[in-house]
Amino acid sequence: MEKKERAGFSSKLGVILASAGSAVGLGNIWRFPYEAGNHGGAAFILVYLGCVLMLGIPIMLAELIIGRQARANTGEAFDKLAPGTPWKWVGLVGVLTGILILSYYSVVAGWTLEFIGEAVTNSFADKQAGDFIQSFNAFTTNSWRPVIWTVTFLLLTHFIIVRGVEKGIEKSSKIMMPVLFLLMILMAVCTALLPGAGAGLTFLLKPDFGKVNADVFLGAMGQAFFSLSVGMGVLITYGSYFKKDTNLTKTAFSVGMIDTLVAILSGFIIFPAAFAVGVEPDSGSGLVFITLPNVFQQAFGEIPVLAYIFSVMFYLLLALAALTSTISLHEVATSYLHEHYRLTRKRAATWVTTACIILATLCSLSLGVGKNMTIFGFTLFNLFDNITAKVLLPVGGFFISIFVGWYLDKNVVRSELTNGGTLRLPIYQLIVFILKFLAPIAIVCIFANELGLL
Ligand code: PFF
Repeated sequence: MEKKERAGFSSKLGVILASAGSAVGLGNIWRFPYEAGNHGGAAFILVYLGCVLMLGIPIMLAELIIGRQARANTGEAFDKLAPGTPWKWVGLVGVLTGILILSYYSVVAGWTLEFIGEAVTNSFADKQAGDFIQSFNAFTTNSWRPVIWTVTFLLLTHFIIVRGVEKGIEKSSKIMMPVLFLLMILMAVCTALLPGAGAGLTFLLKPDFGKVNADVFLGAMGQAFFSLSVGMGVLITYGSYFKKDTNLTKTAFSVGMIDTLVAILSGFIIFPAAFAVGVEPDSGSGLVFITLPNVFQQAFGEIPVLAYIFSVMFYLLLALAALTSTISLHEVATSYLHEHYRLTRKRAATWVTTACIILATLCSLSLGVGKNMTIFGFTLFNLFDNITAKVLLPVGGFFISIFVGWYLDKNVVRSELTNGGTLRLPIYQLIVFILKFLAPIAIVCIFANELGLL
């Protein structure tokens, strides 16, 4: 009965695009540029690429192995593969991490809806450079407006989850991802042509290794986990929906490549744009929302209708990219409640949505009226952002790689990676080596380095 209800992706392309849909989101277009900006640009990007290859993709594979082998949601998968052991906590903490990420992520996703509204009503048209900063700050610190958009976004996610994921995700991903990609290339070309854009390209391409410190490593590792949706079990849940003949290694590499390309591409849009309009690259979480509307006006000032179309399309796509990510986050908790507590899918989703609406509202208010109520010096919004990306995901990734590298029977690992011996996999030993030694040691070293122990 339960097995019958389990969703399943219907095509190979669907598998890749749905997983890429989870990976590609605000993390690439909104978070990556501001993390890179805060940490000096090009040097950060190099460290980031190292983290994607050495940690992100192998741990993504580990998650897929766990998910497909267990055929269970994240909260139950470890207990199925290692019954009665404390390993189950890795899955349960993953579910909780998903709820925390979803709560602050939907605040930013809500902003994209406001920006769609502004783009549609053409209200960027008569603003000057300085106005964009001011109106962004006024909007995000407002008490009710961002909250309404955040709740709207969560309800949108809820609505899709309740209907069943696979059709919604697969279908929308197949249309949305190629369009997003094309549009981003077009925009990268346009911003590179803006006067003053050169400084932005230098910032992206010329590494200043003097800037590489412990924070850069922690920031890059956190960003890699966050951007690839790795470390909390999204890919365990999704992997449990994969068919037996899906090539896990190919899927993980494709998703890693697509995700990285989109992140780098958004760097090529945001930094030249930021420099061209005099916005500092380390100006934080507002970067995309402040610079881009301005870019559309500047780049297509002569042809206002183009500026209009680009603005509307961009924020629409940003919202859709965010939506395929919020769906994946929501699905982790919903499938756990649905299958573990035998709630109906609708009831399980309602619990998750309600919890997230409460937490997300607090996150949103913490940027305005509540900004003086800090925890460890962070607003709630920044606390959720930092603690999930820089602590919970890497710690989750550490245990996931240990679980597959050391605990899980190697016959199971080999069989999952080669689909029961039907695929050739020359890098099998390398993958196991990374999961056994390289990834866990690198994660520990990056933490030790940040704490000043190295
Ligand atoms: N990877 C998504 C992004 O880059 O926007 C965000 C995300 C989704 C993070 C799912 C973590 C996660 F488990």
